[in-house]
Amino acid sequence: MKESAEALERFRKILRPLMPQSLRRLLLNTMAWFASGDLASLARIYDSDKWGGHWYAKHYERHFGARRRKPVKLLEIGIGGYDRPTSGGGSLRMWRTYFPKGRIYGIDIYDKTAHDEDRIRTYRGDQTSADFLRRVNAEIGAPDIVIDDGSHRNEHVIKTFQILFPLLAENGIYVVEDTQTSYWPEYGGRSDQLDGASTSMFFLKKLTDGLNHEEFILPGYTPSYFDQNIVSMHFYHNLVFIYKGSNNEGSVEIRQNMPPGQGASAGRP
Ligand SMILES: C[S@@+](CC[C@H](N)C(=O)[O-])C[C@H]1O[C@@H](n2cnc3c(N)ncnc32)[C@H](O)[C@@H]1O
Repeated sequence: MKESAEALERFRKILRPLMPQSLRRLLLNTMAWFASGDLASLARIYDSDKWGGHWYAKHYERHFGARRRKPVKLLEIGIGGYDRPTSGGGSLRMWRTYFPKGRIYGIDIYDKTAHDEDRIRTYRGDQTSADFLRRVNAEIGAPDIVIDDGSHRNEHVIKTFQILFPLLAENGIYVVEDTQTSYWPEYGGRSDQLDGASTSMFFLKKLTDGLNHEEFILPGYTPSYFDQNIVSMHFYHNLVFIYKGSNNEGSVEIRQNMPPGQGASAGRP
């Protein structure tokens, strides 16, 4: 695996000065076509750090594999390459190949229209702007998958989730990458206080209690939007998946957050 990655990097370095970008992209797209179901290879081919720098591809395959042949709408925050207009875009092309019927949308604070291609569309804006995110959503419709690989600043990750998760399609999946910044002060994170801090990981961990909101013994408790619409959460090294759906299976014993036997419909089967 390491040898083939190094060979690909050597190949890329030789190609860059020799070929115009359009021809290089054609060659990479052809290589990618042969590896289309293998996300790790696609990440290598398109130079995305989702395999190599990070080890996310295996988790993405586990969570996205069943949807691969569906016409998914995927929105990724963070196109890559920062202020260099033609840099980045690797993960957008990777997703386009992985989801052959997918529509892939990218958001970045910098202009990335150089990456607009068949089934790829980019938007320029700030991931923390509710107006901007709602405008994109109105244009593309509810995304089935959102991936936050943007600024990774803790307050941005939380704010973006609060705006975009409600706009996600029913049964959609929201992914937060690079949660290591939850522990890093330069991103607004901290390592010395893992509970009760305004970090992205504390915010996400807190949501897990909401999965069981129907079991709380808290008479008068009003479930939040997230309590009612998150059905599962999956935590990995630096990566979190949050599934959207109706979280209303009901409790075996608790009714209206009252102690067992005391709720409005207590005693009914
Ligand atoms: C880590 S890179 C994305 C890499 C890409 N997703 C990939 O896998 O190849 C992060 C990108 O987020 C963008 N970004 C930073 N702050 C942002 C913000 N507030 N809103 C939108 N994009 C932002 C940066 O310009 C940069 O291009």
